[in-house]
Amino acid sequence: MIFEKIDKNNIPQHIAVIMDGNGRWAKKRGMRRESGHRAGRKSVKKIIESCVELGIKNLTLYAFSTENWNRPKIEINFLMQLLLLSLKDELKNLNKNNIKFKTIGDLYQLPKKIINYLEKVKSETKDNSKLTLTLALSYGSRNEIVNVVKELSDKVKNNIISSKNIDETVINDHLYTRNLPDVDLLIRTSGEKRISNFLLWQIAYSELYFTKKLWPDFRKKDLYKAIISYQNRERRFGKTSEQVK
Ligand code: IPE
Ligand code: IPE
Ligand code: MG
Repeated sequence: MIFEKIDKNNIPQHIAVIMDGNGRWAKKRGMRRESGHRAGRKSVKKIIESCVELGIKNLTLYAFSTENWNRPKIEINFLMQLLLLSLKDELKNLNKNNIKFKTIGDLYQLPKKIINYLEKVKSETKDNSKLTLTLALSYGSRNEIVNVVKELSDKVKNNIISSKNIDETVINDHLYTRNLPDVDLLIRTSGEKRISNFLLWQIAYSELYFTKKLWPDFRKKDLYKAIISYQNRERRFGKTSEQVK
């Protein structure tokens, strides 16, 4: 069993996933793209379950990018409906499994009904502590960085902070991800080998894992494979191999 091959003492603290390939999954079956998004929900459930079982503390899922607003309106509407439905279905499970729910991204662009429900789920799960599940919604890393620059320049202008005190920690503390640790492992499904504007700052030293599996086909054993690959790498952070041994 592949599960036994995982070193339980070297579990990544933070896994981020670019859940890609829903459209192609549907197309292969002669179905509409929407069916792929619907099928992707099962993968989300399985992966969350798996993170809880493995004791992974942080899971961040890329669900909708700033660039995805350029998709056909009908697909965007479907994704929003699916999101609302999923949140309603899962709220109980989040609490049952001690999962804290968060979001990153420019939420104000989402329909009001969804913003309200997101806030409800966040507030009703805020004291949970087993896993922090963060959904990236209307998220773009460049947009996030632009917001940090704006916020910091206002603070400098108003003498709240001096520009000479701006360092990496200050920038970190102004990102949407301010309370999350760095990403250890970034997974992208569907065979594309690109980052698509996801967590550019936060993945500076992440291990990257690309798989051809389409997101609706991604299951627990695929996550185990990614973790085993991660565990077989030497993270040197600029040092020599001898230094980190
Ligand atoms: C990922 O699947 C889901 C979202 C981006 C919302 P896609 O919809 O991008 O699927 P492909 O890449 O077209 O196969
Ligand atoms: C990235 O997938 C965004 C999400 C998974 C939410 P896309 O399918 O939008 O990425 P590109 O455009 O192919 O790079
Ligand atoms: Mg895609």
